[in-house]
Amino acid sequence: MKRIAVLTGGGDAPGLNAVIRAVTKTAINIYGCEVLGIRDGYDGFISAGGVIPLDLAAVRGILPRGGTILGTANRGNPFARKILRDGKEVVVDISDEVTAAIKKLGLDALIVIGGDGTLRIAMELGAKGVPVVGVPKTIDNDIGGTEVTFGFDTALMIATEALDRLHTTAEAHHRAMVLELMGREAGFIALHSGVSGGADVILIPEIPFKFESIIRKVRERAEGGAHFSLLAVSEGAKPLGGQPVYRRSGDEIYTPRLGGIGQEVGQFIEGQGFEARVTVLGHVQRGGSPTAFDRWLATRYGAAAVRVAAAGGFGCMVALRNAEVIPVALSEALAVPKRVDLNSDGIHTARGLGISFGDE
Ligand code: F6P
Repeated sequence: MKRIAVLTGGGDAPGLNAVIRAVTKTAINIYGCEVLGIRDGYDGFISAGGVIPLDLAAVRGILPRGGTILGTANRGNPFARKILRDGKEVVVDISDEVTAAIKKLGLDALIVIGGDGTLRIAMELGAKGVPVVGVPKTIDNDIGGTEVTFGFDTALMIATEALDRLHTTAEAHHRAMVLELMGREAGFIALHSGVSGGADVILIPEIPFKFESIIRKVRERAEGGAHFSLLAVSEGAKPLGGQPVYRRSGDEIYTPRLGGIGQEVGQFIEGQGFEARVTVLGHVQRGGSPTAFDRWLATRYGAAAVRVAAAGGFGCMVALRNAEVIPVALSEALAVPKRVDLNSDGIHTARGLGISFGDE
């Protein structure tokens, strides 16, 4: 391997810089390889100044930093790009242009750090001959093939701390506190932080809920002397027979933007005679410094991705399985998105603790 490149795509997640650092250091120290950074996802291949050299000095001091020194983009799909043509918006496929730009750079490997969307693009570029290796990133933890993505642990820590803080003010004011959490169609953040933060009700997309069931829990607690309740609500949670709440619908370019279910749950609780307040934690879950676990995982992923590339394992992503980092085919990892398993010990544990999922 003489020259490799690394890019970050999709929404950011704490630990991106740790991967970039590990890729750069491993490639230089072990393989004596030149490393290039691609700015703003795949866009960097076709924009002026989009390709920058990465050396040891460039990655010094970035391990604890959130965000990504390379920048990212979640609307940079080269297979579907919106442009203005004759004053009208049209969607075009510029993947040949991107592939040609990658070939021109003479890359022996392209390490793509991203979630489902970014890795799917990597897989499609792989089919066009680009030597790609993926690194799974997302706070949502919804990528198949791996037990965990980096960024998830940091989001959990922030969500759990938020629940702890809401807990004390809920108790002081005898209120129901609703915390709306990220995660898209996967309920991992709400489930794990809800259990870790002592929530009384956890609503996740995988378990459609009934409003009556939520209020039953709040009422039961009040009757038992606990005049406050804590609710961890995943942004993708939906009532039985109903739809998730969106702030903005999607199209070929934009993924639909979830948000608002927390407010609906809070309003319902108030309508039943209990005081309620709603907090939407939002992008606080994605920003700032990664936890030690995310730094450790991200560093291992970055180093392993370079080893996989050196061994010619293209079309794979690195994954954590049974405490080992191993390569897994992107096609296998992306075949089925990961969702909370309703038969998992996490769900049974929560039910055993008396936590309501709003379904009983
Ligand atoms: O996939 C990560 C995530 O943070 C989701 O949990 C959330 O729904 C979405 O991205 C938010 O996207 P954006 O940053 O575009 O608002």
